Amino acid sequence: MSVVEVADGQEAAFLAIARQFSVIMAKKHYGRTDIVRDESSPNMFYAVRHWASASAAEACHADVDVGALTSRLYRIAKVTHLVNGVRRSDPASDNRRVRGAEADRRSGFDRRVDSTGRPEGNRRVADRRLGPRRLRGRAGKVDLVAAARRARENADARFSHFKVGAALEAADGSVITGCNVENATYGLTICAERVAVFKAISDGYREFTRIAIVADTSTLTPPCGACRQILWEFGGNLDIVLANLESTEATHRLKDLLPLPFDARLL
Ligand code: THU
Repeated sequence: MSVVEVADGQEAAFLAIARQFSVIMAKKHYGRTDIVRDESSPNMFYAVRHWASASAAEACHADVDVGALTSRLYRIAKVTHLVNGVRRSDPASDNRRVRGAEADRRSGFDRRVDSTGRPEGNRRVADRRLGPRRLRGRAGKVDLVAAARRARENADARFSHFKVGAALEAADGSVITGCNVENATYGLTICAERVAVFKAISDGYREFTRIAIVADTSTLTPPCGACRQILWEFGGNLDIVLANLESTEATHRLKDLLPLPFDARLL
């Protein structure tokens, strides 16, 4: 189930996208979606997906038509995923169980819980999509760890097999995610945290409050030294939330992880 906050004036566009999504769901036997409008807040919709099966959810996630609709949706709405409803019934292994669960989380309209921002920058997004009043008090309420867990599923860790996800929260409550991306040189690998920071900067965000970092380890994975430096320079004394795939979480201040930092003030 997801909460969909549609930008002012975009309700008809949203309903058109939802209708097309329903048609695809039915035609391709993925299942169906119920959309409920919040009568007291006409920009708010609740979307409940009923998947035919876990593999239908996976197929839907991989569907290019759904992908095209989803990117249109994210231009006009903020989607917050609340409940993940599909699990494979015979979890052959932890990995497979997670993949099944994540496939559902990321299917259809749920594929990105967050906005990755607009090229024109954060201010414009905030104004156009939510309005300053609705943004007030938003930061801190987002399920950042869930977003990092989802981002982790996109990691390309073909050499280390160590998948990491990160979710960076901007001051307005927007969430920008990242995953680690490896390549054959090994050395040009980029960590999840830096991907999130650079995506955010590239999309015009400049102020940040927290970052969640998720790996599939019982000992929580802290950011590497390079990422601490970048996080410090672009995010300052952030809260660093560490988690794994279950529930373990620990929060640190970046200042404690990077004492005596080097930055532009010293140039
Ligand atoms: N990695 C991250 O993405 N973030 C961290 O905080 C630690 C390490 C990645 C880099 C590499 O792809 C893999 O994990 C193993 O080091």
